[in-house]
Amino acid sequence: MQTQQPPSRSFRNQLIRITDWFAFPLRASHYVELVNPLWTTHKMQAQVVKVWDETKDARTITLKPGTNWRLHRAGQHIRIGIPVEGRHYTRTYTISSAPERSDGLFTITVKAIDDGRVSRHIVRNIKVGDFLPVGLPQGDFYLPDASPIQPLFITAGSGITPAMSMLRSLIAQHRMPSTEHIHFAPHEFDVIFGKELRAMDAEQKYYHLHEVHTRKFGEDQHTDSHFSLEMLEQFCPDWRERDCYACGPASLLSALESTWEEAGISRRLHIERFMAEFAEVPADATGGKVTFARSGVEVDADSQMNLLRVAEEAGMNPPHGCRMGICHTCNTTLKSGCVRDLRSGEILNEAGAIVQTCVCAAAGDCELDL
Ligand code: FES
Repeated sequence: MQTQQPPSRSFRNQLIRITDWFAFPLRASHYVELVNPLWTTHKMQAQVVKVWDETKDARTITLKPGTNWRLHRAGQHIRIGIPVEGRHYTRTYTISSAPERSDGLFTITVKAIDDGRVSRHIVRNIKVGDFLPVGLPQGDFYLPDASPIQPLFITAGSGITPAMSMLRSLIAQHRMPSTEHIHFAPHEFDVIFGKELRAMDAEQKYYHLHEVHTRKFGEDQHTDSHFSLEMLEQFCPDWRERDCYACGPASLLSALESTWEEAGISRRLHIERFMAEFAEVPADATGGKVTFARSGVEVDADSQMNLLRVAEEAGMNPPHGCRMGICHTCNTTLKSGCVRDLRSGEILNEAGAIVQTCVCAAAGDCELDL
């Protein structure tokens, strides 16, 4: 079978400049896409080259990135566009592979969540050969290059992915420092990368894994094994001297924040969240009628549901990225009325205010330029 080799970068750039003249009003990149979607320059895409089931509900997708890809730092994430039933969704996933991979490929590892339409689609339906739009690696959750540190990883469930990228990277660089790792999962067989982590524990002199299983085997009952100061002291007595990198559900991260704050060493705790942290909405808060002015859609919304989801449930497909208040892709303008920022509880009621629809809810009637 013949394989398509991409043209050299300088030759390709020259060719693109010339052909852009002839391709107007489109760009040459639109036609190049017909030959190989990975060569396009007007958008970045990646091709699925392998899918691998890590557990019964988590899957690793290996991707070959196209032109203009930038190598990630271990721990960073990317945005991926996923078409599901004719609609386009964007989600953010951490890269689980090390940047040192010699084949130029990278992986994401996705856990299907019960009401997660997109994550379930990725785990069940994505197949080798599919092309997916991707963004460049982003995020500041990574180990420092220069200063030597002794990491303590505390992860739970799919929160293992950034830590896995970092661990793989440390091994690839042959510079594994003294590393403690506490990982929570319901059962032994639910541990994503379980086999690889246990092999690391056996083979890497300075890496120590402490697995905590939070459910009784064969039963749906919870054990008492949840994060506590006693557990931390037991597994990692020198935790105060280490830099902690943590990723997992909000309840675990809050418990870590309190523990590190009480110890007066919050600066040593580095946290990666998969969801925005929301303040409590006052009990007497009310929603209202939301008008999406440019779409001509009017819908009633409560005081809790973010406006991005309100729009999606009304059949719209508004722009979005991370869905947790980081990327600002979902920004729109408040034309009138009142919305609440669910993270801080702040009320926005000035016409012209920028509203991040993924982290704001109706706080009365409101009209958005969407
Ligand atoms: S979708 Fe990223 S900030 Fe709203």
